[in-house]
Amino acid sequence: MSAHDLPPPGGDIEPLRGVEAVVLVGGKGTRLRPLTLSAPKPMLPTAGVPFLTHLLSRIRAAGITHVVLGTSYKAEVFEEYFGDGARLGLDLEYVVEDQPLDTAGAIRNVAHLLRADDVMVFNGDILSGVDLRAVLETHRDSAADVTLHLVKVPDPRRFGCVPTDADGRVTAFLEKTENPPTDQINAGCYVFRRSVIDRIPAGRPVSVERETFPGLLAAGARLQAHVDSSYWLDLGTPGAFVQGSADLVRGVAPSAALPGDPGDAIVLAGARPHERALLTGGTTVGADCVVGAGARVHSAVLFDGAVIGENAVVERTVVGAGARVEPGAVVRDAVIGDGAVIGAGCELLDGVRVWPGVTLPQGGIRFSTDV
Ligand code: GTP
Repeated sequence: MSAHDLPPPGGDIEPLRGVEAVVLVGGKGTRLRPLTLSAPKPMLPTAGVPFLTHLLSRIRAAGITHVVLGTSYKAEVFEEYFGDGARLGLDLEYVVEDQPLDTAGAIRNVAHLLRADDVMVFNGDILSGVDLRAVLETHRDSAADVTLHLVKVPDPRRFGCVPTDADGRVTAFLEKTENPPTDQINAGCYVFRRSVIDRIPAGRPVSVERETFPGLLAAGARLQAHVDSSYWLDLGTPGAFVQGSADLVRGVAPSAALPGDPGDAIVLAGARPHERALLTGGTTVGADCVVGAGARVHSAVLFDGAVIGENAVVERTVVGAGARVEPGAVVRDAVIGDGAVIGAGCELLDGVRVWPGVTLPQGGIRFSTDV
């Protein structure tokens, strides 16, 4: 995919004044290995475009134009792809960390490029349907030092939770527990008053969740919550990554950057799915992929040039660039690295990950992490 494939900027959106955005994209994405060995997590193709394109297009759609990317791991690929941001209607700048500075350290590290009073900060791996203009409104109405988007989730036990008082002020940051007192969790999107950013210690790793926010709370700062129940997914794990991509393809997760109409599948240029291949559940078929007759591909992400053989089954799986799943193989809930070959008749299940370039021989090998 090239920068020419980016969707056009949203021209007639009323600009939001006095606010700009910082997107944190410097993480190593270890939970998504081996996919993140060759590309940083926010650049992984998701519903046909790098994940970050979806986020940037939502920022632009909210009327924000100045965006600074805080980069560290594989920093150069972001600028190579997005350039000055003009194709997305953005004024995009980049800052590279000498050493990873963690989330708050990364925000502090871009402060010299910021020029507005309000700064919206985004984790670069969150897929969310939150109304960004409403988050900013909450921040301004409450004259907060920091406003946090908190999302209500069905099972808060898997996350640290963030209780609030009757006025919507944050009262604590709690670790994961079996009995969380609230279903509100930190959604990884904040509005910072500029002066708060300037007070974050410079030049060393600092975490927003472990250091900055608890410190502000203890010092009596106003941390306001913007709570909603919008679509929200952290794309940090393989399971969440395929889920997020499928939700984008099906139109369940909102994006202004989908390269096609929402539906059962998106098929990119040059791909050749056989007319008797079944593509369902929000599957993405990358550029120049081949899918054979009788193959069933469900909620899967096929990176460019992947090949799925006849009668193979690929479900909730990422198949890396140029990788091959040979005829009759079954791959469920797996990650196949770039260029790997899954021999005919193999069965890979339940979180198996195949490293780039590895060849699994034909002949009914069954791998599962489910013991
Ligand atoms: P894992 O290694 O799988 O946990 O993923 P990760 O490295 O992306 O970490 P995590 O998901 O906790 O990061 C949340 C967000 O902060 C992501 O958007 C990361 O890109 C970003 N991030 C994490 N650490 C750093 C850092 O040191 N510098 C910068 N600029 N961004 C970071």
